[in-house]
Amino acid sequence: MRIAKTFAETRLVSSGEIGLVPTMGFLHEGHLSLIEAARRDRDNDTVVMSLFVNPLQFDRDSDLARYPRDAERDIELAAAAGADVVFAPDVDEMYPGEQLARVNVKRLSEPMEGPNRPGHFEGVATVVAKLLAGIRPDRSYFGRKDAQQLAIVRRMAVDLSFPGTIVGVPIVREADGLALSSRNIFLSDAERREALALSRGLMEAADAAEAGETAASRLTGAVLEQIREGSSVSVEYVMLASQDLVEPLSELDRPAFLALAAWSGGTRLIDNVHFDEAEDGFRADRGTRLQSKSVLYGNAGSREESRDAVDNRHR
Ligand code: PAF
Repeated sequence: MRIAKTFAETRLVSSGEIGLVPTMGFLHEGHLSLIEAARRDRDNDTVVMSLFVNPLQFDRDSDLARYPRDAERDIELAAAAGADVVFAPDVDEMYPGEQLARVNVKRLSEPMEGPNRPGHFEGVATVVAKLLAGIRPDRSYFGRKDAQQLAIVRRMAVDLSFPGTIVGVPIVREADGLALSSRNIFLSDAERREALALSRGLMEAADAAEAGETAASRLTGAVLEQIREGSSVSVEYVMLASQDLVEPLSELDRPAFLALAAWSGGTRLIDNVHFDEAEDGFRADRGTRLQSKSVLYGNAGSREESRDAVDNRHR
């Protein structure tokens, strides 16, 4: 596997069609599933993973400073998952001067995560645009866990005429159903138990939708019922929105996702189920489940060290 520090070097060591997996590092199986998806796609000759903690998408300097970095571990995991090249630029390569040109995908950035994270999606869209322009991938892989981000990136690529395809990859869940996130290491055993109500609720809603329920109020109600029943989790939003425009829906009548954000103790979690059109209605994408403990727990040192290293609001 090659490690490249510049766009030019990345293009030089990549041949044929390129599959790109953008990351900010501190990899877990969610990221590895993106690399594996890129590797599985036989049209990709070279799989490039970018590893860059993007200052533009943090609204607080302290969060950026505390963001965990372990390039050596990330490079090892990326190689084992099948990456050919890791593009690990310095800030100067990505932002040689003040970044005056910014990408703002209007409307799609406003609901859900928008109010909670001012400027975040502008930072994401801008860095992804730079990666697409600098690496020129044929396909780029993003997790469905960040459903709103995926919609924004897709729309940005269309509106700015980037060639290449944006591929959405199913959520990876821990064995008990909790959607994989670096922030999971913050949860105490009790908080974790309570947080399981989130995925349980989404699975109930998925069953209901597949049985023909289309009313958004009933689908969100199924989630809220689970959460209220057994937990002190505090919900920020549960919303059904269209996959393309992130438009709030009252009926499941087009490809959509049912998404939530909630706090378990001091940790903010997001999760969702996507509903894709099928012959006889909608098929729920519930994600995949790990069979064993995540690399998050094994490789990130002790639980206490991990807690110190990871910002609990942002990943
Ligand atoms: O999802 C992420 O890890 C980041 O938002 C991304 C897409 C790599 C941009 O920095």
